[in-house]
Amino acid sequence: MAFRQSPLREIAWESFRALEPEKKAPLLNMAGHPYHALIAQQFDRAMLDRNVDLATKMRKIGKTRGGMKFLQDLLPEKRAMLYFAQPSTRTFLSFYAACQILGIQIAEVRDAQTSSEVKGESQEDSVRTFSSYFDLIIIRHPQGGFAERLAWMLTGTDRPVPVINAGSGKDQHPTQALLDIYTLQRSLEKRRGGLEGARIAFVGDLLRGRTVRSLSLLLRHYPGVKQYFVAPEPLQIGSDILAKLDEAGMAYEVTSDFESVMPEMDAIYMTRIQDEWDQNGESRALDISRFYLTAAHLPILKPSAIIMHPLPRRHEIAPEVDGDPRAKYWRQVRNGMWVRAALILSIFERDHEIDHYYEDLVS
Ligand code: NCD
Repeated sequence: MAFRQSPLREIAWESFRALEPEKKAPLLNMAGHPYHALIAQQFDRAMLDRNVDLATKMRKIGKTRGGMKFLQDLLPEKRAMLYFAQPSTRTFLSFYAACQILGIQIAEVRDAQTSSEVKGESQEDSVRTFSSYFDLIIIRHPQGGFAERLAWMLTGTDRPVPVINAGSGKDQHPTQALLDIYTLQRSLEKRRGGLEGARIAFVGDLLRGRTVRSLSLLLRHYPGVKQYFVAPEPLQIGSDILAKLDEAGMAYEVTSDFESVMPEMDAIYMTRIQDEWDQNGESRALDISRFYLTAAHLPILKPSAIIMHPLPRRHEIAPEVDGDPRAKYWRQVRNGMWVRAALILSIFERDHEIDHYYEDLVS
């Protein structure tokens, strides 16, 4: 298995941690495949296109009984551990469903109180225990960089297993970004011929919203995309992300005037205020109602625009918007399952079986 030859085995943790994310990519990927999926920066355009293509083929294959049986017979020899140390509904369930689609058996730890961590076992020892029984670890954790640390640690053991980051602190949520790219690409393909050159607004808590940070980085692979960061000043996007966009020569605007950008946008990506990260309830003092999308705004959006949200939502999108054909957030939820199934298949380098089956299906 590729993991045994991973160059990640050769590098000390402190040196790995200190690398620029772009320099980490070759240590996380192998021959165009991800083998740990940890950061948005490890995905190049070819990998993104491959993931979209695979997810589309798999969802088509899965429409018939025979096709679903084929999918469920792809990875029955694998077992996955879902280790979620932060609340989750969609990410957890979509990974769960993705594993079911591929015939992978699943176990979960969602509450450290039920594990031996209450007896004083370190999280690292817990995860090393998982790797004794499982072949894939999918992890959500409040601490940025925790999944990276575990991936590095496991790669050095005699039973290295891949690690997928299902959300790390305020930092990254790369698999959400993959499903967002899938949704953007498929919806904008039909409406304006693709994602290239699109105008995309991110709205809400951009400072602490990890989905926005990961997606903004991935959008660097789509020439001509212009990003609009729409937020109250204290919750604006981090300067680290803007520096990456500058480096890549990507256009962007930073503003707090939502209504003025609305009519121009091809996609509006709403987010909730991430107040679980407040020190003293400081975000409650902000007037966030200016960053809500209501039914009254629908007439001023482009007829071809799409509305997205990683969910969960609070009041930032009125429920009356849900019935508008431009609302794509429930589509995102469903897409997450297929995109994650495609990613897992790529990690285990079994994706070519999809191509062969699909060719027979369409010929
Ligand atoms: C997001 C997350 O966990 O970062 N949820 C998700 O995975 N779809 C967004 C959020 O919690 O606001």
